[in-house]
Amino acid sequence: MESILVIGAGFMGSGIAQVCAQAGYRVHLMDIDPVALEKAIASIKWSTEKLSTKGLLAESSTTILDRIAPEDTLEGAARAQWVVEAALEVEELKRDIFQELDRLAPADTPLASNTSSIPITRIAQATQHPERVLGLHFFGPVPLMGLVEVVKGEKTTGDVFNRGVYFVKSLGKTPVRVHRDIPCFVMNRIFAAAFREAVDLVDQGIVSPEDVDVGMKLGYGWNAGPFEIADNAGLDTYVLIGKAMKALGEEGFISKSEFIERMVAEGRLGRKVGKGFYRYTSEGKRVPWDRDD
Ligand SMILES: NC(=O)c1ccc[n+]([C@@H]2O[C@H](COP(=O)([O-])OP(=O)(O)OC[C@H]3O[C@@H](n4cnc5c(N)ncnc54)[C@H](O)[C@@H]3O)[C@@H](O)[C@H]2O)c1
Repeated sequence: MESILVIGAGFMGSGIAQVCAQAGYRVHLMDIDPVALEKAIASIKWSTEKLSTKGLLAESSTTILDRIAPEDTLEGAARAQWVVEAALEVEELKRDIFQELDRLAPADTPLASNTSSIPITRIAQATQHPERVLGLHFFGPVPLMGLVEVVKGEKTTGDVFNRGVYFVKSLGKTPVRVHRDIPCFVMNRIFAAAFREAVDLVDQGIVSPEDVDVGMKLGYGWNAGPFEIADNAGLDTYVLIGKAMKALGEEGFISKSEFIERMVAEGRLGRKVGKGFYRYTSEGKRVPWDRDD
């Protein structure tokens, strides 16, 4: 059975570990925070049990969970056929992790980052073998979303890129191939154009977040509105993406207002803390702020 090392057991890493285990891979799930690891295992248990009761899994939740080993070091890289990094969106941190991975992982193991915004080429520069570094940009919640962008860095070989496409398909996901490495890749750039406009309109009091979401669903056929998507993703991650884009000289990418920074300072991080553009009941129901449950 092939082994995958997933680094970071937060919102994305736990979902990536889950879909790898569902696809039959053995998973080393690594995080420096033991609480994050505990929460990740609990959330994978909850999610696989829910999918199982809906008849959407071929195996039991226990069988899937048995394939996942929580770990607190990167040593699992030595036994991994694939590595997917999903730690915080901070370039220096990712570069340190990749430098270490390059030392530990077997020479033919591809090293993937799930970064939302940082060019793969910059992360790859921290390694001696940039040709085996690529982007695998999953969308959250990973167990439910079918898309993964496969991103070719400047030095990524065609073979590693093709193996990325094949790996994504082996997880039951659909790859979108990104042939040139640009900050935020393709889907996030397109989403960000809509989202930054939406944030500025809400900040100016022109429209409410819930009316934007209804409008985009009914008017443009989106499955979820931009504010629903942002609350699910976590607004703290948006702030980190904004900082990363600013550092790359891509100021035009982020919204003109500091609305999201203010929300994060107030602890409104989105669904994971029960409050963001919406508030969330203990059962996880999304409710506009000016309405009762
Ligand atoms: N949130 C989204 O919707 C989304 C979508 C696509 C990509 N991403 C990207 O995925 C990555 C993770 O995002 P997230 O939303 O899961 O964040 P998160 O904050 O939920 O999780 C990040 C995890 O990384 C861990 N971590 C920090 N330093 C570490 C280290 N040195 N080694 C190992 N683990 C470490 C933290 O303890 C935390 O558990 C980011 O690069 C983000 O940009 C996020």
